[in-house]
Amino acid sequence: MKSSEVKKGLEGVYVTESALSYIDVENSKLYYVGYDIEDLVKYSSYEEVCYLLLHQRLPRRGELDEFVSKFADNRVLDDKVLETLKFVARGKDVINTLASHILLSYQGETGEAAIDPVRARAHGIRIISQMAILVANISRIRRGLDPIIPDRSMSHAASFLYIMRGEMPDAVESSIIDDILIMHAEHGIPASTFGALVTASTLSDLYSAIVSGLLTLKGPLHGGAAEATYRQLLEIGTPENVDKWLTKALESKRKIMGFGHRVYRNYDPRAVIVKEIAIEVAKRKGGRVKELLDISLLLEKEGVRRLGERGIYPNVDFWTPVVYAALDVPVDVLTAFFASSRVVGWVAHILDYWRDNRLIRPLHKYVGELGRPYIPLEGRY
Ligand code: SDX
Repeated sequence: MKSSEVKKGLEGVYVTESALSYIDVENSKLYYVGYDIEDLVKYSSYEEVCYLLLHQRLPRRGELDEFVSKFADNRVLDDKVLETLKFVARGKDVINTLASHILLSYQGETGEAAIDPVRARAHGIRIISQMAILVANISRIRRGLDPIIPDRSMSHAASFLYIMRGEMPDAVESSIIDDILIMHAEHGIPASTFGALVTASTLSDLYSAIVSGLLTLKGPLHGGAAEATYRQLLEIGTPENVDKWLTKALESKRKIMGFGHRVYRNYDPRAVIVKEIAIEVAKRKGGRVKELLDISLLLEKEGVRRLGERGIYPNVDFWTPVVYAALDVPVDVLTAFFASSRVVGWVAHILDYWRDNRLIRPLHKYVGELGRPYIPLEGRY
C-alpha cells in the first residue's frame, strides 16, 4: 500500500544504503566504515581518513605514502589558479567564492565519462586536497595578503594553518586542526550530502554535485552554525551575561546555535571530543580565548539544564569557535573550513551512490483544487 504520508524534511526517511558511517544514537557514538571516531582522532590523520572513506578500508603503508604524496602534489596550485582565486575572492561570501572557483576548475566531462569511478575518484581527490588550501588562500586575499603555497612536506592540517597565518604552526596546533578535519569529514546524509546526491543522481558531474553540497552546507541550521555559534559567543560577550541572554533567547523562540541535532538526542560524540580540545587550548592561550571558553561552559550548563530533557544538546559546532579563536582562524572562513573537511564525505557518498544510481525524485502531496474553469482575462475582476 503506497503511503502518501508527508515526511516533512525527510525526517526518519532512509534514502540509500551505505557502509561509510554509522551514527549510534543510543550510545552517542560515531563510526567511519566501522572505526570509532575516537580511535580515528587518536591514531589516524585526515589524509588516512580520506583514504578510508574513498576506498572503504584502511590503507597499507605504501598506499598511504602514495596517497599523501598525491595530496601534496595537488596542493601546489599553479599561478593561473592563484590568479583566478584573486579575482573570485573579491566576492563577499567565502563559500560562494569557493563554489565559483570549483566550477571554474570543472574539466568539462559529462555523462558516462563524468561518472567513470576511477576518473571521478581522481577528480575528487584533487578537489579534496585543494579545498583547505583554497579556503586559507581566500582568507589571505580577503585580508589583503598574497596567496601562498605550502611546502609539500607539510601535512594537510599544517598546510592549512601555515597559509592562514603565514608562519609554521607547531605540532600541537597542527594535530588539533587534523582532529577537527577528521571529525568533520563524514556524517551520513545531512542536508549538504543529500544536496550533493540529488545533483549526482541526475548524472550531472562531480564538480556540480560538490558545489550543491557546498551551497547547502552554508545555511546556519547546518554548517553555517559554526560561524553563527562564534558570533553568538561574541553577542553574549561575558560569562555574566549568559543567563540573561539565554532566558531572553528562549523566550523569543530563538534557536541556540551549536545546540540541537536532527539525529542525536544526546551529546554529539564529536562535541565531547572538541570540548576537551577547547579546554586544553583555552588553558594554553588564556585571555579572550579563556573568556570564550568560560561563556561556552556556562552556556552549555544552562542550555543542557533547560533543553536537555527535550533531547537538545551541544552538537559538533558548539565548542569549535573556542578552538578556532585559539588558532586565529577568522570567523568568516569557519563554514568554508568545515566544507574543506566534509568534501571527502560528499565525494565518498557520490561515488558510493553512482555504483547503484537511481534518480532522486520525491513526491509532494497535492492539496489544491482540480478541474478549475479557465476564465479569460477580460472576465477576471
Ligand atoms: C550540523 O545532520 C547532520 O548530521 C548535520 C551535522 C553534520 O555533521 O553534517 O551534524 C552538522 O549541521 C549540526 C547542527 C548545526 N546547527 C545548529 O547548531 C543550529 C541550531 N540547531 C537547530 O536549528 C536545530 O537543532 C537543528 C536544525 C540542528 C535540528 O532541528 P530539527 O531536527 O529540525 O528540530 P526542530 O527545529 O523541528 O526543533 C524541534 C523543537 C522545536 O521546538 P518546538 O517548535 O517543537 O516548540 O526543538 C526546538 C525547536 O524550537 N529546538 C531548539 C533548538 N533546536 C531545536 N530550541 C532552541 N535551540 C535549539 N538549538
